[in-house]
Amino acid sequence: MNDLEIRRRVRELEPWVNDFVYNGVRYATASTRDYLLSQPPQERADAFFAAFPGAKRVLELGALEGADTLAMSGQPGVEILALEGREENLRRAEFVMEVHGVTNVELRLADVESMEFAELGHFDATLCAGLLYHVQRPWELLADIGSVSDCLYLSTHYWGSSDGMTDLDGYAVHPVREDHPEPQARGLSVDVRWLDRPSLMRALERAGFTDVEVLHERATAEVCDIVAACRKAGVPRS
Ligand SMILES: C[S@@+](CC[C@H](N)C(=O)[O-])C[C@H]1O[C@@H](n2cnc3c(N)ncnc32)[C@H](O)[C@@H]1O
Repeated sequence: MNDLEIRRRVRELEPWVNDFVYNGVRYATASTRDYLLSQPPQERADAFFAAFPGAKRVLELGALEGADTLAMSGQPGVEILALEGREENLRRAEFVMEVHGVTNVELRLADVESMEFAELGHFDATLCAGLLYHVQRPWELLADIGSVSDCLYLSTHYWGSSDGMTDLDGYAVHPVREDHPEPQARGLSVDVRWLDRPSLMRALERAGFTDVEVLHERATAEVCDIVAACRKAGVPRS
């Protein structure tokens, strides 16, 4: 696809959340508004495969416009199923794959809060970045991931304070009304729940991820960030 054609299709698919680079040219540059990728895609892909070097069949949840998908697709021998809940995001992700000639990615429209994970088959590893804090029952999403995958690269927020937490299904949760600055990156549910750290760890353990290797963490009294490589028993650390 030539430069003019890419620009025409990019315009048709507006508005974009992220820009992308092809052949040294940056496209969809009008897009970069308030939402910044929390980790550069290639850096995240490198960290993902450093944590799970043998991963060949990969599941990605909440793929947005395919920035992480594209970066991970460059790993030799990998096959990716990337799920995204918003059709317009999916169309842009498909276009990014088309421009780059990517053939080892399947993009699918799916709501991770209501879909049947059992129908997906089994995966060596899952990428769940920027999504867990956008759902109503994060512990159920972790259990679903655990039902299809032995390894999980998790990048999420958790709630740092124990004040005002509600107990639900044995987890301490902080109710949050979705107000992500970028509407296309919000959860499909409006009222979501954030776990506190002990509850996040308990939910991971109950999902089967007994080994949680924290790769990055920023703890505050409220919004906290964590990136972790999570493995089931018997999966060695690389
Ligand atoms: C904050 S963005 C994160 C995008 C990307 N994973 C990253 O880390 O940069 C959340 C993404 O998940 C999608 N999403 C939100 N709720 C979802 C759901 N219930 N099922 C599937 N996708 C969902 C949004 O449409 C958006 O693309």
